[in-house]
Amino acid sequence: MCGIMGYVGGREAIPLIMRGLRGLEYRGYDSAGVAVIEGDEIPVRRSVGKLDQLQALLEREPLSGSVGVGHTRWATHGRVTDINAHPQSDCNHELVVIHNGIIENFLDLKDELVAKGHAFVSQTDTEVIAHLIEEALKSANLVEACRLAFSRLDGHNAILIINRRYPDQLIAARLGNAGGIVLGFGDGEMFVASDRLPIMEHTRRLAFLGNREMALVDRNGAQLFGLDGSTIKRDPEMYMWDPLATAKGGHKHYMHKEIHEQPSALTDTIRGRMDLQRGQVYLDELNLDDAVIHSMQRLSIVACGTAWHAGLIGKFMIERLAKIPVDVEFGSEARYREPLMDPSTFVLAITQSGETADTVAPMEQALERGLRTLVICNTPGSRAAQIADGVLYTQCGPEIGVASTKCFTGQLAALYLLGVFLGTRRGVIDPAEARRYLEGLERLPSLMGQVLSREPATEKLAAAFFQMCDFLFLGRNINYPIALEGALKLKEISYIHAEGYAAGEMKHGPIALIDQNMPVVTIATRDHVYDKMISQIEQVRARDGIVIAVANDGDARIGDLADHVLYVPETEPLLQPILNVIPLQLLAYHVALRRGCDVDQPRNLAKSVTVE
Ligand code: AGP
Repeated sequence: MCGIMGYVGGREAIPLIMRGLRGLEYRGYDSAGVAVIEGDEIPVRRSVGKLDQLQALLEREPLSGSVGVGHTRWATHGRVTDINAHPQSDCNHELVVIHNGIIENFLDLKDELVAKGHAFVSQTDTEVIAHLIEEALKSANLVEACRLAFSRLDGHNAILIINRRYPDQLIAARLGNAGGIVLGFGDGEMFVASDRLPIMEHTRRLAFLGNREMALVDRNGAQLFGLDGSTIKRDPEMYMWDPLATAKGGHKHYMHKEIHEQPSALTDTIRGRMDLQRGQVYLDELNLDDAVIHSMQRLSIVACGTAWHAGLIGKFMIERLAKIPVDVEFGSEARYREPLMDPSTFVLAITQSGETADTVAPMEQALERGLRTLVICNTPGSRAAQIADGVLYTQCGPEIGVASTKCFTGQLAALYLLGVFLGTRRGVIDPAEARRYLEGLERLPSLMGQVLSREPATEKLAAAFFQMCDFLFLGRNINYPIALEGALKLKEISYIHAEGYAAGEMKHGPIALIDQNMPVVTIATRDHVYDKMISQIEQVRARDGIVIAVANDGDARIGDLADHVLYVPETEPLLQPILNVIPLQLLAYHVALRRGCDVDQPRNLAKSVTVE
């Protein structure tokens, strides 16, 4: 949820940290701050608002030093103010701490520390860490004091510490699932960050901290320890990085670029995983042999937000292709429901970042219960990828825009591949059927390109409707989740209230909302419930509702009924949602643009929700 960055080396730390924070700003942008060790001081600069405000402050009041930390905040405890911005420090200003996560027992710890005479200045939970270490330093060195302090913390937290009495060192720790700690091994310099993106322009030699691990970092490398005091040996590995992948490539926003990257992202996701001639899918990375596959009687999908919408569509795909019953649940619900599962139930998490706390927690619960746990993920080295029994990576490249687009359609392609994989291995579909299914997938990127070429139609609609206050999105069967996704895209970047609804449910209440001020987006591509959608559109029109339909090319019937139509090509019914969502992504984008919203960094949101 927050972005954290540290540097130890021979160069000026602040320019490197500020550049790194820009790459992390999508994780949270309420306030930001930096600190360096400068002589025997540890000066701090903090500012509410985006990084530009902090940059302006640094130009007025510069800092100089080669050991430093920086933080972009998404507020959890304490209002968005300068005093609550990170870094936070101890009473004597000997050390500073930056932190991502929630310290669930911070009030008890704060009471204990106040009773010992510690004076707190902020409302944050983070400040407790600084005072705990200060207290422990009375009888231990920095590493031991940090270890003792971290051991007192409940909750999921990622932490960086620098201390002016240890001017060449930095301490990093990962406690649970509050976002990663990535170590970048440079030449005579070290980088530490929440994820790999801001490090990889400097070095591609990376190591990742696991749960309840800490690192003592100096310019020559890192020593890793368990919170139990054990020493950990972990060599850095080389990771691939394409600098263009994190640039906007001429697009005004990352979201727009990522919407248009979908054909290539889907192509990269399916590449090397299917043999059309043989009608086979290869997913060796899931570590599922035929015996294990035949032992699976149920699949439980856990995910959040857009990834949950992908899971809802995955249910249709996998039940149809592999005849395996599928449940789909919000991670935030699953983690507290104690679901009834036996070893024949496999768990499949879907998470772009691999760091969503509400998704990782039920994964850990499933693993503790001995259930086979898989993940569809876009981020190598992420927590979810570290702990799963098998990882099916989408190959979408970094997704920077907070609103997920290319990773959503990448997840749908991965789910479809999984369905064909399981169906063929379980003998539910024969090679000829598999070939037909896979041909549909292979044709998809070019059909996606056709839909993208029709972007002007969504721009026109946005011009007509961007001042509306409410939208309704209706879909049925496999397109009901697309109605949910279209509504989420619109609301999260344009701040317009939008609701996705099962079309068949309209008559049971929501139809009361329909009037001439309520645009109703209906997904009415040709399938076995098409006629039901037609009658749905009739019901909306009978009440002066405005109908915007997503329909297949050549569908004149819809053209006569709806006020506006966004046409998409026809494809395999199980893949049609991948085409149907694209005009809705573009509509949301252009509405938000016209409303002057911050498309890539919408208010109150963050790209990866690593706290509850
Ligand atoms: C999607 O547009 C949202 N930003 C959000 O719902 C997101 O899908 C959700 O937080 C899950 O993220 P994940 O895929 O990284 O787990």
